[in-house]
Amino acid sequence: MSLMLHHVSMLPHEAVSCKLRLAGALARSHSFSASCSVTNRAIHCTPERWSCSGSCIGVSISSSRCNYQGKRLVRSCSTTSDFVIAGDESYGNKQVVSLTPRLYDYVLKNVREPEILRQLREETASMRGSQMQVSPDQAQLLAMLVQTLGAEWCIEVGVYTGYSSLAIALILPESGRLVACERDAKSLDIAKKYYHLAGVSHKVDVRLGLAVDSLESLILNGESGSYDFAFIDAEKRMTEKYFELLLQLVRVGGLIVIDNVLWHGKVADPLVNDPKTISIRNFNRRLMEDKRVSISMVGSYQFFSSITDALS
Ligand SMILES: C[S@@+](CC[C@H](N)C(=O)[O-])C[C@H]1O[C@@H](n2cnc3c(N)ncnc32)[C@H](O)[C@@H]1O
Repeated sequence: MSLMLHHVSMLPHEAVSCKLRLAGALARSHSFSASCSVTNRAIHCTPERWSCSGSCIGVSISSSRCNYQGKRLVRSCSTTSDFVIAGDESYGNKQVVSLTPRLYDYVLKNVREPEILRQLREETASMRGSQMQVSPDQAQLLAMLVQTLGAEWCIEVGVYTGYSSLAIALILPESGRLVACERDAKSLDIAKKYYHLAGVSHKVDVRLGLAVDSLESLILNGESGSYDFAFIDAEKRMTEKYFELLLQLVRVGGLIVIDNVLWHGKVADPLVNDPKTISIRNFNRRLMEDKRVSISMVGSYQFFSSITDALS
């Protein structure tokens, strides 16, 4: 996941404090400490702890010791954790924790998942494409970012059955609005059912069709610079196009979150050169030089997060 704060020429005081608050939120979130709790002012559903069913994703180190580009990869002697230690000074001898299935179970057990999201996740689990759904911990992070930003107007590109969009809609204030862009009517029907069950339908403006068309229509409607937050989670080769359109729609100081920027780790593997991986890799590289936004890529576990905010 990649996060960007949109900025043009000067960083207003509000944006600075906002950025600090977001950074704090992220830091707390990634440490998964109890201190990450925030006021649940807009959550209408009872949060519930989630027990992992055993189908968790995770990164495990398959060999106990190997060399990778001069780095020494060491598996922990402990039976409870796997970690990688840089064999040189590059990482300041810090231990880089890899997410094992066991550790991911632990993370998930520390997610407050509202009951309605749990129901949606369970209904989606048997459907084709269920692996596309963001995980409970990712959804919690998205909701926290929206809340911390004080976002009112949001956009999601790629709704599927609505898990991430519902997490966002739940946290939005009553006056909030989420434009939810999806091309598949069937999965959108499930999303709409859950917006209704959760009592948030009035906050969600569903756009059935190609996301580019939906975003362009918002621009034509004079809504440029009106949005606080956007989440991109659709066709990977279109990410750059979505990003450009969202840069017009999201206000200065707003936040754009992009999922799958590590693409299951493939972006860092020079031997993987399929079109999607190349596209994401090129996008990440161009973003590094994009002075319109400031960026942050925070290694977390299987996905990465980044906050960006332009400093030109
Ligand atoms: C990864 S899934 C989204 C998952 C969702 N964020 C969630 O948490 O459940 C990607 C979705 O994007 C939709 N999609 C792909 N290309 C699209 C396009 N060009 N326009 C609109 N939706 C698109 C797919 O139909 C799919 O439902």
